Amino acid sequence: MKTQIVTPENLGPAIAYLKNGDPIAFPTETVYGLGAPVFRPDSIRRIFTIKGRPPDNPLIAHVSSLDQALLLAEDLPPSFLRLAKWFWPGPLALVVKRNQDVPAMVSAGQPTIAIRMPNHPAALRLIQGVGEPLAAPSANLSGKPSPTSAADVLEDLEGKIPLIVDGGECQIGIESTVLSLVSQRPVLLRPGSIRKEELEEALQQSIDLPSKDAPIHSPGMKYRHYAPKAKVRLIFDPKEAGDGYPLCRITCHNLYAELRRADRLGVETIEIFCDAAIQSDVALMNRLLRASGQML
Ligand code: TXA
Ligand code: MG
Repeated sequence: MKTQIVTPENLGPAIAYLKNGDPIAFPTETVYGLGAPVFRPDSIRRIFTIKGRPPDNPLIAHVSSLDQALLLAEDLPPSFLRLAKWFWPGPLALVVKRNQDVPAMVSAGQPTIAIRMPNHPAALRLIQGVGEPLAAPSANLSGKPSPTSAADVLEDLEGKIPLIVDGGECQIGIESTVLSLVSQRPVLLRPGSIRKEELEEALQQSIDLPSKDAPIHSPGMKYRHYAPKAKVRLIFDPKEAGDGYPLCRITCHNLYAELRRADRLGVETIEIFCDAAIQSDVALMNRLLRASGQML
């Protein structure tokens, strides 16, 4: 299969593929997504196959309106509307009770569903054009760093998908914050650029972190993620620097692109210096610890 690349001005072919049930890649403000219509189980199954994604890892449904979100969920708590109004469109995925009409495969069989409205004009127009929400994991092969450009998507999925919408580099560069609203108190399942404190301010309520002994709430977090082929060594004191390949100064925006660049160079060990600014960034440290294998 030849993989076609189109600009956001030319979404016609992308919409046609999606309406036909063929998964395609598109930009969001966080990372590129591999999308398929949420109500088409055949199409959702293909997402798992294309990525090599474990079937127990649920997908995020992307919506372009609040009405679409209401179709996917049941028993929405007041906190859902408050956060959606406050942070959408934006990098926040909210986990709520799933409506029975949504194929269970989207949520890997869980009774819940993660929903977010991406803050990217091409993504929103694509969802509107298809006329239903798009289930979309990051558009990388499972286990590799998420793609932040069309070239990254091509590196992993060339020949496996018919089309990529090229929206340039993603503005944020790491995946959305994932917050579960299904238990009494909200639980932060994945840190992202919307910080825990901002969510607590919006909710006027404190948010829990997943407890160590509780069952894994976000199945995706148990897999080695965000990892390049090279070994990643985090350095907290410049004196610890060894002979690993030093990357340029890391930010959320360039992390995944830099990890992919090191792999293209065939580097065996990467050294990343974690200065005070990096250490104080919860979401960035989360991805760095995962990439270095120090955190599952
Ligand atoms: O920024 C993002 O969220 C990107 C772009 C494309 O929107 N998408 C993304 O999807 O990162 P993915 O599939 O790579 O990560 C989804 C995460 C996983 O950790 C998954 O386990 C969790 O969200 N998740 C999805 N549905 C869930 C659910 N029902 N309950 C708990 N966790 C869920
Ligand atoms: Mg992913």
